Amino acid sequence: MDKKIEFETLYNILREISTSLHSGAHIEDVLDTIVKKSAEMLNARGALVRILNSETRQLELGAAYGLSDQYVSKGPIPSEEIITDLCRQNRIITIHDILNDPRVQYPKEAWTEGIRMMIDAPITYKDDVLGILRIYFDEPREFSDEELHYIILIAERGASVIQKAQLIEMQESRYDQLALQTEKLSALGRMAAGIAHEINNPLAGILLFSSNLLKKAPQEGTFREGLEIIMQETLRCKAIIQELLEFSRPSEPKAFLTNVNKVIVKALHLLENEFRLQRIRLEMDLSKQLPDVLIDENQIEQILVNLLLNAIQAIEDQGTVAVRSYVSSDRKCVAIDISDTGCGIPPENMSKIFEPFFSSKAKGTGLGLAVTYGIVQKHGGHVYAFSQPKQGSRFIVELPIASGLHQEEMKG
Ligand SMILES: Nc1ncnc2c1ncn2[C@@H]1O[C@H](COP(=O)(O)OP(=O)(O)OP(=O)(O)O)[C@@H](O)[C@H]1O
Ligand SMILES: [Mg+2]
Repeated sequence: MDKKIEFETLYNILREISTSLHSGAHIEDVLDTIVKKSAEMLNARGALVRILNSETRQLELGAAYGLSDQYVSKGPIPSEEIITDLCRQNRIITIHDILNDPRVQYPKEAWTEGIRMMIDAPITYKDDVLGILRIYFDEPREFSDEELHYIILIAERGASVIQKAQLIEMQESRYDQLALQTEKLSALGRMAAGIAHEINNPLAGILLFSSNLLKKAPQEGTFREGLEIIMQETLRCKAIIQELLEFSRPSEPKAFLTNVNKVIVKALHLLENEFRLQRIRLEMDLSKQLPDVLIDENQIEQILVNLLLNAIQAIEDQGTVAVRSYVSSDRKCVAIDISDTGCGIPPENMSKIFEPFFSSKAKGTGLGLAVTYGIVQKHGGHVYAFSQPKQGSRFIVELPIASGLHQEEMKG
């Protein structure tokens, strides 16, 4: 075989794969190119790419070329026999004994198909096997080291393709989750607003009549005590309703250009006693270079108090709460990062913590984070939660840095 032509062929194949990978072609099309070109380059009958499903540990079909539909339509195959140590070492494996080699899942079918030899090239990234490129031949043949090296190079391109596919899949599922979460929250918000509105009036009635009765009640005794409890609990309901309305109120924040550090210091000041009583260490690292952002100071103070209270409540006995402010790396947001060394959040609760009324605390209403989410959204920002059970949690609030137009409007 003329090596120069061979190298040119390889070069063209690699270029074709890279171009389609970077030009936004569908992943399936790029995999199709890989199987077709590798079969053509080696004068083979056909080729398959199988991708490892990390959950089921099965190798699933990614692309096929040159094989009958009947042969290709066989389902996913278990990976244990195929992903061996040799595979992990990125070595090509040659299969001569089609009928008896354990790596061949459907030996009879392969034989009937006319296949007399196969080679497996692992598709690896670092030490992980992502899949396999299997090439099928009508008759046994030998390969030069150079040819084997070329096959490995093509399989390496396969790794980039599979990684890109997995990244897209992960992003899509994250986006779907977020969209669902947002939709759920806004539906709950509308419902909460309706209920809150309806309940507010009867509560006002209860408060009015019980306070009238209290005026006439004797100074001591169970009657007065009972009335006082009714009033206290009614006031608690009103506070919850107020928070609910806050969460669902469609009003825009009353925004002014403000330095976020100032609001952080105010919120911490409010909670000074809590920190002292629970002997919680406070670490502060506030950037001196923060640009002012367009925020409703009261609302942002409220969310900081919510997050700090959660952090304090998560720490059972001593611990640290760290508060940081900084400009995000893309310089589009000011970020506030509140982390604690508390109990952490179990993974199964992570998707629920921003839902109204989700609480793991005996006396929690479960509105703190829902309100926080609503306020941050109205500010055009984002809130992110990270947590490791028993290690602690971290909440990051990002607030967009105001555009020039906004700033002028606010100054005017
Ligand atoms: N820093 C944190 N560490 C551990 N768990 C947390 C933290 N922040 C929130 N959580 C979990 O998320 C849940 C919801 O928090 P959220 O602030 O919305 O409600 P809550 O604190 O239970 O009640 P409240 O309405 O009084 O704030 C909490 O009950 C807790 O399980
Ligand atoms: Mg809370």
